[in-house]
Amino acid sequence: MSSTSSPIDFLLSRRSVKFVQAPAPSQEELEQILQAAMSAPDHGKLRPWRFKLIQGEAVGKLADTAFRAQAEAGSPVPEQKQQSVRGWLAEVPLMLAIACKLDHSNTKIPEDERLLATGAAVMNILNAAHALGYGAFWSTGLGTYTDAVPETLGFDSLEYRFMGFLAIGTPIDEQFPMTRPDHRQFVSEWTGE
Ligand SMILES: Cc1cc2nc3c(=O)[nH]c(=O)nc-3n(C[C@H](O)[C@H](O)[C@H](O)COP(=O)(O)O)c2cc1C
Repeated sequence: MSSTSSPIDFLLSRRSVKFVQAPAPSQEELEQILQAAMSAPDHGKLRPWRFKLIQGEAVGKLADTAFRAQAEAGSPVPEQKQQSVRGWLAEVPLMLAIACKLDHSNTKIPEDERLLATGAAVMNILNAAHALGYGAFWSTGLGTYTDAVPETLGFDSLEYRFMGFLAIGTPIDEQFPMTRPDHRQFVSEWTGE
């Protein structure tokens, strides 16, 4: 966070950045970013979030795995689209695969709440990356909804809900503020009447 911006300005200025390049966060920064996920709200302290780091050459191999899985699942990715995805990933220094650990025996806390806690953890990661001057982008492409991609990453569908990938790195292009909707469109008051 720049010393001139307040915490609230920092939150208001976050935007997703798909096109990132090296350098990735340093080891120390990455640990701070991942530690931020641990501050997510979490009913029952279940800590359902799981992350897998994919770095360097493994990022390109992820594309191979995804395209194979999508073809096997009957939805082959057209060659042109494959090329554009490979071009994007060729620059991405760090991908974080995201999964939520399910627990079918826990009937007290609904599964939805685990998913929400994991989403909140990812939001903290997005904000932490932004705070340290990095760009990040949540994607549910790359075969997220196939069985093979999560399984290859160690998240079988019986135990985990796979939730996609975060690309993290240094923004390639200059970033401009996003136009955001007026919150009043989304908020009303219940007065008890
Ligand atoms: C769970 C989730 C999955 C997403 N998957 C994709 C995706 O596959 N492709 C995409 O272009 N944007 C995807 N997005 C949207 C981007 O991550 C990003 O939020 C969007 O481009 C708007 O940018 P903003 O975060 O600055 O508002 C996803 C967002 C979420 C929350």
